[in-house]
Amino acid sequence: MEKVRVALGERSYDIRIGSGMLREIGEGIRDFGFSRIGLVSNPTVYGLYGDAVLASLKKVCSSVDVIIIPDGEEYKDFLWLHYIQSELLKCRLDRSSALVALGGGVIGDITGFAASTYMRGISFVQVPTTLLAQVDSSVGGKTGINHPLGKNMIGTFYQPRLVWADADTLASLPHRQVLAGIAEVIKYGVIWDEEFFRFLEDQKDKVLGLDRDVMEFLIKRSCEIKAEVVSRDEREGGLRAILNYGHTVGHAIETATGYTEYLHGEAVAIGMHCEARLAGLLGYLDVKDAERIRFLIDSYGLPTAMPRGIPTDSVIAPMMRDKKAVAGELKFILPEKIGRVKIIGIADTEKIVESLGLC
Ligand SMILES: NC(=O)c1ccc[n+]([C@@H]2O[C@H](COP(=O)([O-])OP(=O)(O)OC[C@H]3O[C@@H](n4cnc5c(N)ncnc54)[C@H](O)[C@@H]3O)[C@@H](O)[C@H]2O)c1
Repeated sequence: MEKVRVALGERSYDIRIGSGMLREIGEGIRDFGFSRIGLVSNPTVYGLYGDAVLASLKKVCSSVDVIIIPDGEEYKDFLWLHYIQSELLKCRLDRSSALVALGGGVIGDITGFAASTYMRGISFVQVPTTLLAQVDSSVGGKTGINHPLGKNMIGTFYQPRLVWADADTLASLPHRQVLAGIAEVIKYGVIWDEEFFRFLEDQKDKVLGLDRDVMEFLIKRSCEIKAEVVSRDEREGGLRAILNYGHTVGHAIETATGYTEYLHGEAVAIGMHCEARLAGLLGYLDVKDAERIRFLIDSYGLPTAMPRGIPTDSVIAPMMRDKKAVAGELKFILPEKIGRVKIIGIADTEKIVESLGLC
């Protein structure tokens, strides 16, 4: 089993990565000595892995209650947060209890938010079962729910006590979901580590074949990069924004297409291509490197082209309303070379429109 440490002083924690270790989660949390546990999941994931996780948790904690919410992004909301909180009260979880989030990013985000607010904050453990959750959302402590007026608008920074990532769970994940996670993995190569980018180029077949060793390495390296960035800037005062490479355009595409056409990772894949093109147009990035980024994204079967039939204005407008836009200036994370990015404010929307036109 591999270990990555997220160094945040007294809020530090380990990410454990391996294959076939889901049924050992009990051992992983034994030393915390939680009085009670609320295991939060959805019917899809619980049906696949619930029994194994529950049995393991019961070995180390006499009181484990299972809380199931429906499967889907639309349930990451106030209503289901309220449901979870109500169950926690009914099950009498106390301040030395913990929540265990078993699932993808949706379960991780809402469970983390519930843990951060229940009795002013109780422990929680992430057991991510999608690639996106293993390489991204379970690490770094962003929790939250959606509001009808905006995605992820209500939330907290609240770190888990442990992340327990079993690469074997990817075997049951739909291929499209695997690819959406790979988009975030490619992001780490572009923003931080050219060697890792090259690894993704060289090992494509093994990645797509979910080779155990390759997947464990891929999750570990992604977590190392995220842990390093988060340790230096937990609350996104500066550096952490680089994790949003591809997301300015990606979020705008998701909004313009009503969140129905693309998975988040797919929209980010298009966004990474557009933002690389923008970096090329502005003279920050060699055009050959922009093409290398497009080629890698495309070779994994992820989209790189802007959706057809959507007016450019409807993509630009949500960018202007983005949390990261300040006084009409849009914040972009632009690559200067593969492995290094720069945070740039751009007021001139013409170049943005031009780069969208190239994608
Ligand atoms: N907190 C953060 O830092 C952060 C970062 C990125 C994304 N997010 C959030 O994460 C969410 C997206 O997460 P996601 O992509 O994991 O989606 P998800 O949680 O909706 O999971 C995708 C689908 O896969 C199913 N699934 C999960 N694991 C499975 C498995 N092993 N086998 C079969 N099916 C499985 C789920 O039930 C779901 O239907 C969004 O809400 C996004 O806002 C949060």
